[in-house]
Amino acid sequence: MKPIRKAVFPVAGLGTRFLPATKAMPKEMLPIVDKPLIQYAVEEALAAGITELIFITGRNKRAIEDHFDRAPELEAELEAKGKQPLLDIVRNVIPAHVNCIYTRQAAPLGLGHAVLCAAPIIGDEPFAVLLADDLLDAPVSVTRQLVDAAHRHDGSILAIQTIVPEDSRKYGIIAGTPMDERNTRVERIVEKPAPEDAPSNQAVVGRYIFEPEIFDHLRRTHAGVGSEIQLTDAIAAMLGSRPVYGHAYVGERYDCGNKEGFFKATTALGRKYHGLVPD
Ligand code: G1P
Repeated sequence: MKPIRKAVFPVAGLGTRFLPATKAMPKEMLPIVDKPLIQYAVEEALAAGITELIFITGRNKRAIEDHFDRAPELEAELEAKGKQPLLDIVRNVIPAHVNCIYTRQAAPLGLGHAVLCAAPIIGDEPFAVLLADDLLDAPVSVTRQLVDAAHRHDGSILAIQTIVPEDSRKYGIIAGTPMDERNTRVERIVEKPAPEDAPSNQAVVGRYIFEPEIFDHLRRTHAGVGSEIQLTDAIAAMLGSRPVYGHAYVGERYDCGNKEGFFKATTALGRKYHGLVPD
C-alpha cells in the first residue's frame, strides 16, 4: 500500500445538539478545556504522519480556517509582550510542513457525500477519514494504529469498539471473521440497525483508512438511512472487491457529538492533562 499522507475531516454538520453555542460557531470549535475538538483530531492525524489536511466544510465554518491559519496581529502582540510560551502555542497549532485544504459540501447530503467531495483532492492514493465528534484519547494515536493495520493487511480499516446492543441505532455495525486479537475481516456492515437486526455488537467509530476504490462505490451509492448518502453503504458495496478490516484500537472514546459525552471528555481530560479537580 502507498504511504498514507492525506486525511479528510468532514466538518459541514450543523451541530444543532449544541445550540445556542453553535448558532454562529462551528461545533468542531467547541473546546474541551482549552483546545477545540477539531484540533484533537488534527493532532491525532499529524501523529500518524499525515501532511495534507482536507476539511469538508459548509456555511458558518470560517472559524476553522482561521484557527489553522497564521494570526499575525495576535502573534505580533504576544511577541511584543514577551509571552513566548503563548506565542509557541499559537504558532504550533499546525507545523510548517503541513498543508490545509478546504472544500465546501454544497448541500448536507450525508457523510458519504462529504467524503466523496474530497475525491478530486485525494486522487489515487489511500487516505484517512476522521470524525472530530469522536475524541479518542490513546497512548498511541488511533489514526497511527489504523495506518499500521492498513499497511499490515493491505486493505481498508475501520476503527471498531464493542457496544451494548441497545446502542446499535447510533452506529455502523460490522460482522466478519476474526483474523487475530485486534483485526476482523469485515463480511457485513449495516448502518444504524435496530438491535434485533444488528449483525454483532462491534460498532464503527469515526476513524477510517480507505483505499481510493471507495470513491467508485460512493459515486454509485443512493440515499440510505435518514435519506443521506451513507459511507457505510459504500463500504458494504466495496466488500465484494476489496478487503476491509475492523480494527479494535487501544484507547478511550468520548462521543462529543452529544452533551453527556462532551461533558465526560471535559472532566476526564481536565483531570488527566490539566490537573483540574472540581470541588
Ligand atoms: C457516523 C457513521 C456511523 C459511525 C459513526 C461513528 O454516524 O455514519 O456509521 O458508526 O459516525 O461515530 P453519525 O455519528 O454521524 O450519525
